[in-house]
Amino acid sequence: MVLRQCHAAAGVLGQAQRRKWNKRRHSENGRGTAPRVGRGPSVLRKPPRRAVHHDLGRGPTSSDLDLDVVGHHARPDIFDLRTSLRRLTPLTWALVGSRLVPDVLIPYPPESLTLPDRLDVHVWEGRPDRSSQNLLSNIGAADLPRPEVLDRIEFYVIPYGFADDASSLITRMPRLKAVQTLTAGYEHVLPYLRDDLTLCNARGVHDASAAELAVTLTLASLRGVPAFVRAQEHGDWRQGWYDSLADKTVLLVGYGAIGQAIEARLRPFECDVLRVARSARDGIAGFASLPELLGRADVVILTCPLTEETRGMVDASFLAAMRDGALLVNVARGPVVDTEALTAEVVSGRLRAALDVTDPEPLPPGHRLWAQPGVLISPHVGGLSTAFEPRARRLVQSQLRRLDTGEPLANIVVGPQVSH
Ligand SMILES: NC(=O)c1ccc[n+]([C@@H]2O[C@H](COP(=O)([O-])OP(=O)(O)OC[C@H]3O[C@@H](n4cnc5c(N)ncnc54)[C@H](OP(=O)(O)O)[C@@H]3O)[C@@H](O)[C@H]2O)c1
Repeated sequence: MVLRQCHAAAGVLGQAQRRKWNKRRHSENGRGTAPRVGRGPSVLRKPPRRAVHHDLGRGPTSSDLDLDVVGHHARPDIFDLRTSLRRLTPLTWALVGSRLVPDVLIPYPPESLTLPDRLDVHVWEGRPDRSSQNLLSNIGAADLPRPEVLDRIEFYVIPYGFADDASSLITRMPRLKAVQTLTAGYEHVLPYLRDDLTLCNARGVHDASAAELAVTLTLASLRGVPAFVRAQEHGDWRQGWYDSLADKTVLLVGYGAIGQAIEARLRPFECDVLRVARSARDGIAGFASLPELLGRADVVILTCPLTEETRGMVDASFLAAMRDGALLVNVARGPVVDTEALTAEVVSGRLRAALDVTDPEPLPPGHRLWAQPGVLISPHVGGLSTAFEPRARRLVQSQLRRLDTGEPLANIVVGPQVSH
């Protein structure tokens, strides 16, 4: 990474560095004079600082100003080398700019992660109130990061969710090189990408959570849990016979990270598993084998991405190829399924469905799918569990470490490897 050498010029310092600085500052009569560093050319090292939180789109608070110089709320007594360099001519900038550290915009306070020292970290959590988070709703202009921050960002981790506001910020970051989603699917980001940008997804982050939900929806549907819940609301002790997962055949449509995680969780349930991916390989059938495999499955679980090929893939003919009474589980994306065709099948009672994702989303009140006894709906919560945060933070940490050390970024799904 071209910018990683100039540790001293700018950047939020890591914890170890901060401790070192504090020790040094106290031994220097508590005056906190910026020390010189003896690494490479002589440059001024700014005092350690926290990142400014841009989560509320507000100006810095007095505590920010006390501690921070990020986002150009610099203390006047601190020489901001970085800003000064940026005022140089383009040629000079090209010559010296490669010695600066990159500005990154992430949704986590740096003190909550283990980060390399040589990054300039800005924080934007996306929403002021994460407890009432609706992943589809937009964020609002007042809560977006300020333009002077966006101007500097080279690596942007989009806060978790599907708000257009958060994705469209990409178009307002002229220096941006790479974008990291915290979602495994990334179709909602594609409209905002420029040709020169690299996009990394969160493959792996959602495996545990989404796979758990897929198995939960499958078991709940087969064993009649929705009927129990409805009966419980009326204090109604209503017994009945239901399907077991044991002895059934489950077809996984999509055998990537989440498909494999689902299979790992299905193993103890004494069922057979069939696998379909885009391309055939050992033990995994290709897309072309779907019609034949559909007729052998009691449960079909969709875990493929939404692409031009998969949009509307589960249409009337796909559904017609499924066995009578079979269960369709969708933890992929709503538009993979033709909603009208599915509605017709479940209204007739021939098929059952368990849907974490729908088309449209949110499913409007009064939609016929809500009222079908053979349909279980969860509101796109495959990733919304306690399993998300630690895995998302690990991914952000490891990507920033790669950025710092010059290793290739992981999970690139669009664009070139970021050059260093
Ligand atoms: N419900 C939720 O909250 C939630 C959470 C996370 C993810 N998701 C969804 O799950 C999707 C999969 O995530 P992942 O991490 O498992 O992705 P992944 O690792 O990239 O795996 C995708 C799999 O789908 C297969 N595939 C692609 N096109 C296909 C087609 N036309 N027919 C059959 N299979 C096809 C791929 O085949 P190859 O192996 O041959 O390439 C691959 O096996 C994401 O894109 C996202 O939309 C939903």
